Amino acid sequence: APKILLDCDTGIDDAITLLYLATLVKAGEAELVAVGTVHGNVAPDVGALNTLRVLERAGLTEVPVAVGAVRPMAQDVNYAHDWHGTDGLGETGLPEPAGRPVEISAPEQIIRLGREHPGELTLLAVGPLTNLAIALLLEPSLPTLFREVMVMGGAFDHQGNITSHAEANVWHDPEAAELVLGAGWPITLVPLDATHPTAVDGGWLDRLAEADSEVARFAARILEFYATAYTRSLGKRGAVIHDALAAMLAVDPSIGEYAERPVRVELRGERTRGTTLWDRRLYADEGDRPVVRVAVGVDVAAFQDRLLAALR
Ligand code: BDR
Ligand code: CA
Repeated sequence: APKILLDCDTGIDDAITLLYLATLVKAGEAELVAVGTVHGNVAPDVGALNTLRVLERAGLTEVPVAVGAVRPMAQDVNYAHDWHGTDGLGETGLPEPAGRPVEISAPEQIIRLGREHPGELTLLAVGPLTNLAIALLLEPSLPTLFREVMVMGGAFDHQGNITSHAEANVWHDPEAAELVLGAGWPITLVPLDATHPTAVDGGWLDRLAEADSEVARFAARILEFYATAYTRSLGKRGAVIHDALAAMLAVDPSIGEYAERPVRVELRGERTRGTTLWDRRLYADEGDRPVVRVAVGVDVAAFQDRLLAALR
């Protein structure tokens, strides 16, 4: 069972990912070692309290939650209130959690846990990559300390979701993403090309809402806000639960298809800053850039069925 250190910006699909991971933990199929939060959908302190709220609902009260970077490395901070609500959980107005974040910061927690469990942990990042970049700068041997790094981010052939060409997690901190994708660790990127085809429809959301469990009702409630926001890009009620796909691929890579390519982030483009570029040439003349495993396709039915079963 993979031992997961999650970095996130909770956020509705992040919250669904936490609920999904909680069911895996209970089934003995994964361990959730700790969570760190980063600016992105909301501020990281808000994201940390949301994380605690969700973990407490799911009955996981022992998982440490650390607050991370409050802003990107080289641009102003920007939140995604339109998609996730000003509270990050679809304006649900949940009460304060009982727990509190731990004292150390999320980048420090990444370094500490990497050192304590060298080669054992999966670092699952489903928000902007600022915490990972800071950890890389502080601990140059970090790339050797993790078994795997799984990142939700980027868009290649698929259109962007925050600008015409950029995906939100990369666009929120392009410099950090450029560092993380070039660090030379065993990294898999799960871009919009893989997540968008997994969009759940109204029928899936209805089946979730009809389930007779508190977790399912909570999941359905926050997803309804998200599904309304998603009408803008899908043209109908539905939702792309990006982050949960990255979690599922971290636990069972067999439902994905992958390409191996060097990946870079455009940092200076007038209209393309934050866009991911992959080098598809069979020969690469920039041989110094490490190869990244990119999820390019996924068994959509397996994703939707497993996620629904877990949340119900
Ligand atoms: C990513 O952006 C965020 O809004 C989501 O939580 C997800 O991690 C999708 O582009
Ligand atoms: Ca996220």
